[in-house]
Amino acid sequence: MSKHIAVLPCDGAGKEVVPEAIKVLRAAGADFEFEEFDVNADAYLRSGVPITDEVWSQVAEADSILFGAVGDPRVNDSNYLAGVLLRLRFELDLYVNLRPAKLYDDRLSPLRREERRPVDLLVVRENTEGLYVGMGGRFRKGTEQEVAIQEDLNTYTGVTRILEHAFQVARREVVMVDKSNAMTFAGGLWQERWKTVAGKHPKMKTRHLYVDAASMQLVKDPSQFDVIVTGNLFGDILSDLTAELIGGMGIAPSANINPITGRGLFEPVHGTAPDIAGKGLVNPIGAILSGAMMVKHLGHPEMADAIEGAVESVIRARECTRDLGGSLSTSECGDAVAKRLRD
Ligand code: NAI
Ligand code: MG
Repeated sequence: MSKHIAVLPCDGAGKEVVPEAIKVLRAAGADFEFEEFDVNADAYLRSGVPITDEVWSQVAEADSILFGAVGDPRVNDSNYLAGVLLRLRFELDLYVNLRPAKLYDDRLSPLRREERRPVDLLVVRENTEGLYVGMGGRFRKGTEQEVAIQEDLNTYTGVTRILEHAFQVARREVVMVDKSNAMTFAGGLWQERWKTVAGKHPKMKTRHLYVDAASMQLVKDPSQFDVIVTGNLFGDILSDLTAELIGGMGIAPSANINPITGRGLFEPVHGTAPDIAGKGLVNPIGAILSGAMMVKHLGHPEMADAIEGAVESVIRARECTRDLGGSLSTSECGDAVAKRLRD
């Protein structure tokens, strides 16, 4: 039976890249029924509701969600992002955020030393806890006596399940990243769970790094890494860094999944890119590779490999957007990938 995919392009660059991902999925032969939903800043400004109940129930029922990006210069309250993307991650319990980074062409690396350029790693980010849960508050707001508290929530179950998942997807090594020397309560829990979970996988190489040292090592020699597992905040930050090691924000894909229920939301790592949106300059490859992660998750790894191969080929041929050294528009780049899949 054909899968039902809820499509949420949202705002700015998201609206431009999601159609390219669908174009490529169709060219790859994906037998999906795509249904687009009107979740975006225009609707939010009109109604004050990030996602209506009716849309929510349909999106939450879909086999998978293909997502663009949320954010609009006209909307400056955080309820919009929280009410769309964070709500989907939290309420569908999409606790695994996979952010792979692979260097498809040597020329895209910013690193000087050739032998250290090859990157083929995966950031496994905890996606439902940490500093992003929105717990805390502002006391005496707007006064010089203001106090702001942002809580870092870490649970035994949440930490254990993300560490376990890292071992499921690692090929040669799992590196756990935290800041347990300075943040001793949350860090203490991560350290204890890490030792227990790592102990259950004696054949896998393991290593622990503090987040500052991990940032340094990622720039110094990213070729050393396979899987990095970390919390919500550090995973968000490190995955922007890893994106820059392979060609920038336009190329990096991600999957938000619950491996137990099978639910998934697939989205490029980048945001709505208001500085370049609407001019055909936005790179669709992050969204296209997110589509590849979706088909893999839905049981078609061969289709995912074909899409990735086509992406690698267009990048090497410079049939890509300006940010990757090409001169194609967003949709021409999508066409180039789709053409390779049809030929
Ligand atoms: P951004 O990712 O939108 O842009 C950062 C830089 O990367 C910009 O210079 C942009 O031009 C470039 N860039 C981004 N996507 C690109 C693409 N596909 N091709 C080529 N270049 C690309 O992050 P920024 O500027 O911090 O945020 C802009 C808006 O997006 C904000 O409203 C923010 O809240 C939202 N945002 C949403 C996210 C999501 O929906 N997952 C993630 C990050 C930001
Ligand atoms: Mg981010």
